[in-house]
Parts: sequence; C-alpha cells; structure tokens
Amino acid sequence: MRAYQLTAQSGIDALKAVDLPVPKPGRRQVLVKIAACSLNYRDLAIATGRYRAPTRAHVIPLSDGAGEVVETGQDVLRVKAGDRVMGCFFQRWTGGEPGPDTQGSALGGGIDGMLREYAVLEEDGVVKTPAHLTDIEAAALPCAALTAWHALVEHGRLAAGRTVLAQGTGGVSIFALQFARMMGAAVIAISSSDEKLARAKTLGADRGINYRDTPAWDAAAMEMTGGRGVDQVVEVGGPGTFARSLGAIRTGGKISLIGVLAGMADINPSLILAKRADVRGISVGSMQMFEAMNAAVSAHGLKPVIDRVFPFAEALEAYRHLQSAAHFGKIVITI
Ligand SMILES: NC(=O)c1ccc[n+]([C@@H]2O[C@H](COP(=O)([O-])OP(=O)(O)OC[C@H]3O[C@@H](n4cnc5c(N)ncnc54)[C@H](OP(=O)(O)O)[C@@H]3O)[C@@H](O)[C@H]2O)c1
Repeated sequence: MRAYQLTAQSGIDALKAVDLPVPKPGRRQVLVKIAACSLNYRDLAIATGRYRAPTRAHVIPLSDGAGEVVETGQDVLRVKAGDRVMGCFFQRWTGGEPGPDTQGSALGGGIDGMLREYAVLEEDGVVKTPAHLTDIEAAALPCAALTAWHALVEHGRLAAGRTVLAQGTGGVSIFALQFARMMGAAVIAISSSDEKLARAKTLGADRGINYRDTPAWDAAAMEMTGGRGVDQVVEVGGPGTFARSLGAIRTGGKISLIGVLAGMADINPSLILAKRADVRGISVGSMQMFEAMNAAVSAHGLKPVIDRVFPFAEALEAYRHLQSAAHFGKIVITI
C-alpha cells in the first residue's frame, strides 16, 4: 500500500513516499481503508522537531483520517465491514480519565498515523461517520473538532447567551466558532487578517478583532462585553497570549489551554487568582466525547469548513500550505 513516513524530524522534506504491506487486524481491531486525512498544527510541529511528546521513529504521520471498515478481527462488536468510520486521535481512551497508555496511543505520534491507504485501528479507536458528511469532511473532525468540543462542552459547560472568544481562524478555532454558535453562544473572533475576520462573521462570529492592529485585544473584548469580560477563551496561542486571555475573561471565566502557537512568555499566577480564573489544559478527547460530539454534528447538520483539498501525491504541498498559515479551517489530503 502507498504511505508516507517521516524519516527524520528535520522538516517537511523528510516526509517520504513508501510502499508498505497492508496490515492485518488482530483481536478487537479493524482494518480501515482510508479515503481522506486532515492536517493539524501538531503534524507540522512533529515534522519540524518541535512537538513536546515523543514520536515513533519513521512514523506514518497524521492523526486524522476517515474511511471504511474493510475487515474486522476476532471479537469485534461495535462496527462491521462496510461501516464508514473516523479514527480516534487516542486509540486508547474510551472515556473517563485518560489512562497511562493514552498518550502513547496517539495516531501519527506514539503510533503510526493515517497518511496511508490502510490502517489497523482498535475497535474502541473508531467512531461511525455522521451520515451527512463526506469522507473529506469527516477527515476534518478527529483532532480539531473534538478539541474544540472538549473545551466548550466538557470544560465550558457552554450555555446559550454566553460569550466565547476564539483565537485565530485555524482548525480548532473555526470548529469552536461553529460549535459555540450551534449552542447559542455569542462569539468574538480574533485574527491577524481582516479578510479572515470577515469570513468568520459569515459563519456567525458576532464581533472580530484584528490582533495585529489591536495588540491589546483583551481590552477590546472587555469593551465589547460592556466591561464584563467573555465567559470562555479557547486558548490556542498559549504562553504568548495567556496573559491577554486572563485580561479578556470575566471574573470566574474559563480559559481552555489548547495550543502553543504564540511562543513562550512568563505566566504570572497572581493574575489567575485575581480573576478567579478556571484554567484547564485540554488534550483532544475520548472516544465517548467523540460520539457525543458526532450526535450534535448530526442533529445540527454541521459541516466542517474545508480550506483546501490536496491529492495524496501532493502531501508535502499540503504541509507547506499549513505552514504558511494562509488557511481558514481545515486542510485535507485525499488518499
Ligand atoms: N491540546 C490539544 O489537544 C490540541 C489539539 C489540537 C490543536 N492543538 C494546538 O492548538 C493550536 C492550534 O492548532 P490548529 O491545528 O487549529 O492550528 P492551525 O490550523 O494551524 O491554526 C493556526 C492559526 O492560529 C492563529 N494564530 C497564530 N498565532 C496566533 C496568536 N498569537 N494569537 C491568536 N491566533 C493565532 C492564526 O489564525 P489567523 O491567521 O486568523 O491569525 C493561525 O492561522 C496548535 O498549537 C496545536 O498544537 C492542541
């Protein structure tokens, strides 16, 4: 089968096309014929040697993929051949608290990922694809959408009428915007680009702030909420934006710590105390969270925002497009 392997964590060019045998599913495993994959910032961080968690040598990259079950191993009950499925980012996190084996079971990191024609996945490491989504659309969900869902629903306990601030217009943030709107919350989007902010407004963002023109976007968000502050920040900037996120939330507001896009800075814990902030680190999500999210995606007919689709042969171009940060929403590779 056709696949890509990351031969070194030295940059995008270390990604090489290879030919590998089709794997066989073992007990409680399934063989999935992958139709499409999507890229996440993590995949770029891994390729360029900037990812925090250990990565398997010569890993097949990408956590996100969707396709069809073509063979089941012994004792598989949850799915059958012919079912359309998506892989779970963590192959071993069914529900509840993550276990000691969860982190090592991350596709495209601790174990081989989805940039290949066929993958063996755990029976509890797949979820059924919502019927209204194409495989290209479904491939966008496993990491970015579930992370946004985990932040807003599990951590945020989001309710109609609340205000969410979403940072940027990449994969996680556009799903956060869509889910927040779906649940009746107001959204303030911040972006480096007026054009992207205009697109975010077409998806339902109520207000937009250009963080290049308005570096004190926390003060702007405070003003937009009549001096109260937002209820929750979906924090993808990390150390470089955290202090401003604390400035933007209301007293007792929530910050879901997700990403590290904005570089390093010292964090002053007294600001957390002063705001009585509820800060939680978010790590994608469990299979059960994924199923709960899919029920909402189906009920609302939600469609992911796909920026661009690349053919398998142009996988490196897809990575370069992600690196350019010109995208809005998700970048997909068809197999
Ligand atoms: N913890 C987890 O489980 C988890 C899961 C998924 C992702 N992540 C992390 O979350 C981050 C986003 O991932 P992604 O896949 O959504 O990335 P992505 O699609 O590459 O999104 C990047 C976008 O973030 C925005 N951005 C960059 N610097 C920013 C800043 N200083 N302030 C505000 N926005 C900024 C930019 O939007 P504009 O162009 O609009 O300015 C940029 O286009 C990454 O750090 C990733 O590793 C973590």
